[in-house]
Formats: sequence, structure tokens, C-alpha cells
Amino acid sequence: MRAMQITTFGGPEALQLTEMPSPVAGPGQVVVDVDSAGINYADTLIVEDAYPPARGMLPLPLIPGTEVVGRTPDGRRVLALTELLGGYAERTAVISAMVHEIPGEVSDSQALAVAVQGLTAWHLLRSAARVTAGESVVVPAAAGGTGSLAVQLAKQMGAGRVIGMASSEEKRKLVLSLGADAAVDSDPDGLTERLVEANGGELVDVVLEATGGQTFDASLEAVAPLGRLVVYGVASGIPPQPVDVLGRVASRARSIIGFYLPVYFEDPVGVHKVLDELFAMTADGRLEPQCGGVYPLADAPRALADLRARGSHGKLVLDVSGWSD
Ligand SMILES: NC(=O)c1ccc[n+]([C@@H]2O[C@H](COP(=O)([O-])OP(=O)(O)OC[C@H]3O[C@@H](n4cnc5c(N)ncnc54)[C@H](OP(=O)(O)O)[C@@H]3O)[C@@H](O)[C@H]2O)c1
Repeated sequence: MRAMQITTFGGPEALQLTEMPSPVAGPGQVVVDVDSAGINYADTLIVEDAYPPARGMLPLPLIPGTEVVGRTPDGRRVLALTELLGGYAERTAVISAMVHEIPGEVSDSQALAVAVQGLTAWHLLRSAARVTAGESVVVPAAAGGTGSLAVQLAKQMGAGRVIGMASSEEKRKLVLSLGADAAVDSDPDGLTERLVEANGGELVDVVLEATGGQTFDASLEAVAPLGRLVVYGVASGIPPQPVDVLGRVASRARSIIGFYLPVYFEDPVGVHKVLDELFAMTADGRLEPQCGGVYPLADAPRALADLRARGSHGKLVLDVSGWSD
């Protein structure tokens, strides 16, 4: 089979099209014939060995890719979640419990969009921030894969004002079209003031944070007393500076909450329940997953470069079965 593999860590160009033996299912696993594979921001960090949860622990050679759509040996069309690696390939072995049948009304790209990023958006709002009716919510990279779903889900879940952040006018237009009440420039300079202004002059109940650096500080400053800042990424590559917990968090009764999706994978039944909900919402049009581009498998380096350069919106997908060189 063919796969996009790296043998040394580096930029997107480290990914090379490689012919290799197909994987064999281990105990409790099934081999999926892959039609298309999803791309996540984490993949851009994994190829550089810069992904914080796994830095220094990744085995080489490796095939990135956390989610695929394809066929099981018994012919079912499924979404399959890998254990962080293995998706950019014509075949992948996955744990049987992490395979989910896709309803006919949901396209491959939509299924990939709601896999890791939809589960993330759902759990950020429901499980981590525990958003309640009427609460204001800030969503970073709101035109991106996770953010575009978080904006829509926050509205569906009854949040009050939903404010999306994005780096370009074009992306901010998309964010508003997805139902956000306001869309602000994500430049960290003056960000707190822009968020408060977008919230009618009030501090915000829930702020999601996936950028790090100065954006972390500006985001924390925008959180209201009793509010929550949920940290789930560091897209800038600059970790947040240490926080004066007593002065900036405890004394204002605010919370900083960490989020890592694989922790939720320890409950596969819960994963299937949320996927059922996301697929049902997609099938009846309440949720509109955004597909920002489909690239041939061999063009994975270009896709990762586009994602890293902030040039993309929505979900990026690799066409695996429909592509030939
Ligand atoms: N903790 C978890 O379990 C978990 C799970 C899934 C995703 N995540 C995190 O969620 C974030 C979004 O992931 P995604 O896969 O959905 O990607 P994405 O949002 O589709 O793409 C990443 C976006 O991050 C924004 N960004 C902000 N500052 C950036 C910078 N300095 N350099 C590059 N991009 C920057 C860009 O949007 P703008 O240009 O509009 O700012 C870019 O489009 C990532 O940080 C990812 O690591 C975490």
C-alpha cells in the first residue's frame, strides 16, 4: 500500500510517498480500507516533533493522521479514529471500538470534519467549559476546523453572545455567516479590548484558548468573574507565561481549565454518543461542517503548509482512494 510517511522530523516536506506492506489487525483491531483521511493542526506539529503531548516520544518512521473514512472488511462505511497516527495511508489498523458507521446523509468530508474537531468543539463547550444558557463565549480560529464547529455548536447549545476570532476579513465574514454574533481580529495587540467591546462592554463568561503566547494573556484578561478560560492548544508555538494564580485567577474566582481530547477516548461509548449527535445534526442541517479543501494523498505536504500558514478554513481532507499518480 501507499502512505505518506516521515523518517526524520522536519517541516511538511519531510512527508514522503512510500510503498510499504499493509498493516495487519492486532487483537481488538480492524483494518480499514481508507477512502479519505482528515488533517488536523496537530499533524503539522507531529511531523516536527513539536506536538506538546507527545514531544520526544514519537516513534520513527511514522505516518500521521488521526481519522479516516473508509470500508471495514465486512463492507461497512465507517469513520475510524486512530491512536494519533496512521491515517495518511491506503490502509490503517484501528481499535474496533473506535469505528463508527456513517449515516448515508453525511458525506466523507463532513464525517471527517466532525471527527476530531467536532468531538473537540463539543467537549470544549459541554464537558470543559460547561456553558450554560445565555453565557457569552469566545472562539479562537473561528473559521478553522474546530472553531467553525464550536461557533455553530455554542449557538445550538443555547449560549448567549458568541464571538469568533480570525486573522483575516474573509475568515471573519465566514465566522459571521456561521451564526457568530461578532467576529474580531485575532491579533493579540488590543485583543482584550476588542473582545470586551464585541461583548457589549462586558467581560466574557467563557473564552476558549488555542494560540498561546500573548493571546493567552489577552484572553485571560477578557474572562469575567466566575468565568472559565479553556486551554486546548498552542498554535503560535509560544507556551503561555506562568500565571499569577492568586492575583489573576483565584482573587477573581475565575478558572483555567485544560483540555485534551484523547482523555475522552477512554470512554468509547461516550465518543459514539457524541458522534451520533454530531452526525444527526449534520444530516438534518443544524450543523454545517466546512470543508476547506481536498488534496490528493501525495499533496499532504502542501495541505500541511497551507494549514500552518493560516491560509485555510474549515476541514482539510486527503483523497486517498480516488487519487493515482
Ligand atoms: N487539546 C486537544 O485535544 C485539541 C484537539 C483538536 C484541536 N486542538 C487545537 O485546536 C486548534 C485548532 O485546531 P484545528 O485542527 O481545528 O486547526 P484550524 O483551526 O483549522 O487551523 C489552525 C488555525 O489556528 C489559527 N492560528 C492562530 N495563531 C496562529 C499562529 N501563530 N500560527 C498558525 N495558526 C494560528 C489560524 O487561524 P487564524 O489565522 O484565523 O487565527 C489557523 O487557521 C489547534 O491549536 C489545535 O492544536 C486541540
